[in-house]
Amino acid sequence: MFEKLLTRIAAIVIRAYRRIAAVPFVRRIAYPLRNQLGFTNLYEHDKMLADHVRVDTYAAGIAKHVKPGDVVIDLGTGSGVLALLAARADARLVYAIDHSPFIASARRVAEDNGVSNVEFHQVHSGSFHAPTPVDVIVHEQIGEALFDERMVESIIDLRDRVLKPGGRIVPAVFELHLDPVQLIDDAVVPFAWEQRLHGIDFRTLEEAASLQPRRYQRRLVYRNQVSRRLCDPAPLFSIDLDAVSGTALPTSLRRRARVSEAGRVDGLCVSFVARFDDELYIDSSPFAPAERHPSSFMNPLLRVETMKVDAGEELEIMLDATDLATPGTWSWSCRRSRLGI
Ligand SMILES: C[S@@+](CC[C@H](N)C(=O)[O-])C[C@H]1O[C@@H](n2cnc3c(N)ncnc32)[C@H](O)[C@@H]1O
Repeated sequence: MFEKLLTRIAAIVIRAYRRIAAVPFVRRIAYPLRNQLGFTNLYEHDKMLADHVRVDTYAAGIAKHVKPGDVVIDLGTGSGVLALLAARADARLVYAIDHSPFIASARRVAEDNGVSNVEFHQVHSGSFHAPTPVDVIVHEQIGEALFDERMVESIIDLRDRVLKPGGRIVPAVFELHLDPVQLIDDAVVPFAWEQRLHGIDFRTLEEAASLQPRRYQRRLVYRNQVSRRLCDPAPLFSIDLDAVSGTALPTSLRRRARVSEAGRVDGLCVSFVARFDDELYIDSSPFAPAERHPSSFMNPLLRVETMKVDAGEELEIMLDATDLATPGTWSWSCRRSRLGI
């Protein structure tokens, strides 16, 4: 009796917490605090700098799209790497901005490298006012779930306030992918309620799922834990930051996909493509060629109940989100399609 009461109270508290955390205003003030604290952790910069594909593709993109004499903003400079690459591309002046106190370290990196045309500002991009319009915004605001560093609102805000007409955003085009995948057997973790082990049936544990935080439904996987992509890849959503007019992201995304290879759906693998132009891009899909794949990003796996599928079947993949930039607001499904493609 007492236990039941406690469980009910716990359920009410959890539901209330989720409602409060989902309020856009609460998310808006909580995010910068969490983000800037996260990036004071040197290990985050260790990983990003060790990612040769990421750094080399950005270096090539900056060399190609920053012209001598340009004024550049590096939005979210972190260790300063992109600002220094822009300075190396003969930018006249680079505003390197970051809301994290880690920016003091980036300033020392510039001094150590004898670079004097980079100005460092510890400020959130929304409060940064460039004295003159700028030619280029470079940025790496990519979260594991693509938009979760609030790239779209930060870049569009800066673009509309400080970028010259005809100015460039580097990179500007992004694709969000959600692919049904099979994991290698050692990496499979079915929901507890799917288990029948040694004659023990765990079906009843499905009830406990409603008390779990939403993130329980997601996990991060390494590239080598994903064995097969079961459908041909296609973006679920694409955005061109040069062209888009508002900051609103879609709240409901759908795609129908034909199974190209029989297998077991263990989840929907989230990945992104970030395009600098037609030739230069990075692709975080576990199936991207090594020279395109940025190693510092793991893939969120949106867990679904295990499902066997045959080649030629059609699947309907759905993602709903109050805020696409907050994976905690995502819900999803992957079902056999009732309609033909
Ligand atoms: C993914 S890291 C990239 C760091 C660096 N540019 C690199 O490529 O290694 C993103 C950085 O942007 C900063 N950041 C995120 N959103 C920001 C915003 N709206 N204004 C200022 N800094 C921001 C974070 O503190 C973090 O240092």
